[in-house]
Amino acid sequence: MFMKFTVQDLKHKKENGKKITMLTASDFPMALLIDKAGIDAVLVGDSLGMTTLGYEATTMVSMDEMIHHAKAVRRGVERALLVGDMPYLSFQTSDIDAVSNAKRFVDEAGCDAVKLEGGEDMSARVKAIVSSGIPVIGHVGLTPQTADKLGGYKVQGKDDASASKVAADAAAVSAAGACAVVLECVPRELARRITGELPVPTIGIGAGPHCDGQVLVTHDIIGYFDRFKPRFVKQYADIGKEISQAVEAYRTEVEEGIFPDAKHSF
Ligand code: KIV
Repeated sequence: MFMKFTVQDLKHKKENGKKITMLTASDFPMALLIDKAGIDAVLVGDSLGMTTLGYEATTMVSMDEMIHHAKAVRRGVERALLVGDMPYLSFQTSDIDAVSNAKRFVDEAGCDAVKLEGGEDMSARVKAIVSSGIPVIGHVGLTPQTADKLGGYKVQGKDDASASKVAADAAAVSAAGACAVVLECVPRELARRITGELPVPTIGIGAGPHCDGQVLVTHDIIGYFDRFKPRFVKQYADIGKEISQAVEAYRTEVEEGIFPDAKHSF
């Protein structure tokens, strides 16, 4: 019998010095596999706009598309904490929009929590959603939805001023009630400092080994998305190559009359 991983377990893990594991999923079969492998939290990330829907940027994915994918992932996740990622313009506009879209993730897709990008500027949104009873994970440092304003997909917090800004952002979302904070693309020593300062766990992506947990995009670690590969990604499998080989073998066998053979016919 499995024990469901809860929002409280995030904090327990930090307190006990145990690392939190998080991966993204955008469909049912991947969700099943990730959950079975014992990953603590599954994020239906807006990166699915690129990895699964083929958009040029994560900002192009809509709230309805996120709900559609979150519902599929929900059907595959039993144990892990399920987190819906608030897409671009689903929460920036007002507290009311933020709460009603966060509620959609919970009511329509059965998510346990939501994640949203932004620091001090978005702390009111975090507070509003948390006050409505929905746990929120913050996301600071490199925030892809507003990467243009940050000078592109670049490491954040490299100089003193920028490091103070990332630390202040993390502190602001934590003070607003976030149950964890994703730190994306920040130097490892800054991540270590913030992890030591925050009462809630940090979950790093490109933020070094000192965070309380780690998150990556599953498509990246299995080699299933090759448009670009950030330096912080470690690839554990080459599923794209396996799929290509299988598809080519099938094509050849059909063209050459090898498949279907007697074993695969009635
Ligand atoms: O959209 C996403 O996948 C994310 C990450 C933190 C991996 O936000």
